Amino acid sequence: MTDEIIIENLNVKLNGRIVLENINFRLKFPRFIAIMGPNGAGKTTLLKVLTGFIKPDEGEVSVYGLNPIRDKFKLAKIVGYVPQRERIEVSIPMKVKDVVLMGLLCKRRFPRIPRRENLLRIKKVLEAVGIEELYDRIFSHLSGGEQQKVLIARALISNPRLLILDEPLTAIDVKSQWEIIEFLKKLELEEKIGILMVTHDINPVVEYVDEVLLLNRKLIAYGEISKVLTEENLRKAYGPNVRVVTSGKLCYAITGDIHA
Ligand SMILES: Nc1ncnc2c1ncn2[C@@H]1O[C@H](COP(=O)(O)OP(=O)(O)O)[C@@H](O)[C@H]1O
Ligand SMILES: [Mg+2]
Repeated sequence: MTDEIIIENLNVKLNGRIVLENINFRLKFPRFIAIMGPNGAGKTTLLKVLTGFIKPDEGEVSVYGLNPIRDKFKLAKIVGYVPQRERIEVSIPMKVKDVVLMGLLCKRRFPRIPRRENLLRIKKVLEAVGIEELYDRIFSHLSGGEQQKVLIARALISNPRLLILDEPLTAIDVKSQWEIIEFLKKLELEEKIGILMVTHDINPVVEYVDEVLLLNRKLIAYGEISKVLTEENLRKAYGPNVRVVTSGKLCYAITGDIHA
């Protein structure tokens, strides 16, 4: 099995609209790779293609040698997915331990009965993320940063080789942002877990990320940050009128929205 994501000629239409068009790339892990692009660029759709939730209209997708649609159960064992937090249903008063346990059970075929060793594993994974004291707390009562850490624990419980995260830093406090980034970097360096993360803002991760993939329906650019985040590429991604500021070797797009 190769630690690579390979996408060839990917096309995705949703409701008759082209959302991803002729995408080609090859990502080698373990690395820390960020996906950036404006609101509606297709970032979440791309992650859903990689995790088998959306079937492409055209193209070949290989995640660590597996086809996300055909090999869904095998893929679930090696990939942890952290969806966008605001899309998660939190009205059911679930405890943290149950949220994390779901990460394990929903990847199993039926019957989905928790075993004793699963509970020990929950404690271990909460400890790894630094939130063991939240074990018995109600998920919906936690702060945004705490919830995000629980969702990361849930994605890690099955010992994945690749962790895919959709805007884990959006709408959480700065301290939690740092803790999460440092933790993800440690996973990459020490556990050799690949990290693929959609992020709205490059600032918090600029020192940690190995490569950036810039997307707006089409692939705009992919590679080292300083080569990708150029004024030309940012204008292609965010539109000709975006305000671009330069700081050191990097350019930043000032988009004004907070949910790119
Ligand atoms: N289930 C869906 N049905 C129809 N259109 C969708 C669906 N999900 C997303 N879209 C549309 O696809 C485009 C890309 O969405 P998305 O992948 O969520 O973008 P991003 O995560 O980059 O903001 C948007 O225009 C969005 O409205
Ligand atoms: Mg999104």
